[in-house]
Amino acid sequence: MSEKATIEISGKKYDFPLIIGTENEVAIDISNLRSTTDSVITMDPGYKNTGSCESAITFLDGEQGILRYRGYSIEELADKASFLEVAYLLIFGELPTKEQLDKFHSDIKAQSVVDDDVRKIVDAFPKSAHPMGVIASLTSALTAFNPSSVNVDSEEAMYKAIVKILGKFPVLVAWTFRKKNGLPLDYGDKNLGYIENILKMMFKQPNEEYIFNPIVVDALDKLLILHADHEQNCSTSTVRITGSSHVGLFASLSTGISALWGPLHGGANQAVLEMLEAIDQDGGDTEKYMAKAKDKADPFRLMGFGHRVYKSFDPRARIIKKAADSVLEDLGVEDPILEIAKGLEKEALKDPYFVDRKLYPNVDFYSGIIYRAMGIPTDMFTVMFALGRLPGWIAQWREMRLKKEPIGRPRQIYVGKTLRPFVPIDKR
Ligand code: CMC
Repeated sequence: MSEKATIEISGKKYDFPLIIGTENEVAIDISNLRSTTDSVITMDPGYKNTGSCESAITFLDGEQGILRYRGYSIEELADKASFLEVAYLLIFGELPTKEQLDKFHSDIKAQSVVDDDVRKIVDAFPKSAHPMGVIASLTSALTAFNPSSVNVDSEEAMYKAIVKILGKFPVLVAWTFRKKNGLPLDYGDKNLGYIENILKMMFKQPNEEYIFNPIVVDALDKLLILHADHEQNCSTSTVRITGSSHVGLFASLSTGISALWGPLHGGANQAVLEMLEAIDQDGGDTEKYMAKAKDKADPFRLMGFGHRVYKSFDPRARIIKKAADSVLEDLGVEDPILEIAKGLEKEALKDPYFVDRKLYPNVDFYSGIIYRAMGIPTDMFTVMFALGRLPGWIAQWREMRLKKEPIGRPRQIYVGKTLRPFVPIDKR
């Protein structure tokens, strides 16, 4: 392949170098486009064709349905690794040794208490508040309670901020959940594993011992691994661009959480379950909803279907579908919604509308069914996604800061009015 791309503008040719990744992905490096041409820029709404960075964290091939964290396949990681190992891998680049993992976990545990005044903020939210709004605000509020974690430039200061958020975020998640359910806000237990601690903090009743169900622990571990990173998606790009102003980790993460909330992104897991429930209550008529999804005059979309990058299948969805079957069976849960989901998938996979547009079930299509079987309410699904995505956001933020990437600041093409004289209010 030629090592350059030539662009012709108004009869003048300009050469631009190519950047080729380790998996042979190719990009045209246009970083000098504006300065070498007459202020020409590129236009790519939704960034469908735009690379924002070179990254060594996650590789994704949407045509072949491949997802790898730091070179390890998602299938192997979901099968063999723990979430905390994956978090370490994503953030620091290599799988941890036993000693490294133990130290990482004990550093996290040492930080797993939040300032008790945070309770007052949690208390001030109405019970009706959506947990994603609450958790985004609480994450941002951590900045005020941990000022030393704001201006972090050295690797050491970054490490401290990272273990702090990995320790405190599960507490915030549990408190958000407990407040909504009228349960006392409590802390975790340093003797427990990361996942067990999250479950206990969320579900422990004040008057009884919390008994772990290994199936639930394993399912949550797997779900968090599957959600842990997904290269430059909407929320991750948000974290990177916010962090590029050097605002600090917690503030950057809170913007990522807000971006994740939307139903086209992480909020889809809640939207999927609400859709499946609506179909169930409507008599289970999947054909009716398939027709609605295909009707361009109807804003309804088949939630949990389609993906910006995956155009064959979402490997995470395959793993989750299998897990949904076994988790429900192991827990002895019979959920009619699982059958509706399978029915919709079956119909969509042979429907020309979905086949032609390469729309396949994504990670969110089956995850809500497992969360529901685990006793997690629908409006907490996206919070669970955020819990899983935390290491990915952290890894991407750290990579961006260590590479000293410049502040993110896209350009635009102005299409508004040209200069016109001001009209006084009595003449308008
Ligand atoms: N149901 C019906 N039609 C769809 C759907 C859907 N779920 N998704 C895409 N289409 C159609 C869309 O109308 C368009 O049709 P046409 O070419 O005739 O105008 C075509 O497929 C391409 O869609 P697009 O919106 O241009 O594609 P995109 O890459 O901009 O959007 C997406 C990707 C994920 C936002 C979109 O597929 C969608 O809205 N899916 C439903 C929401 C969802 O499940 N989101 C979770 C994504 S995975 C997890 C995550 O990101 O966090």
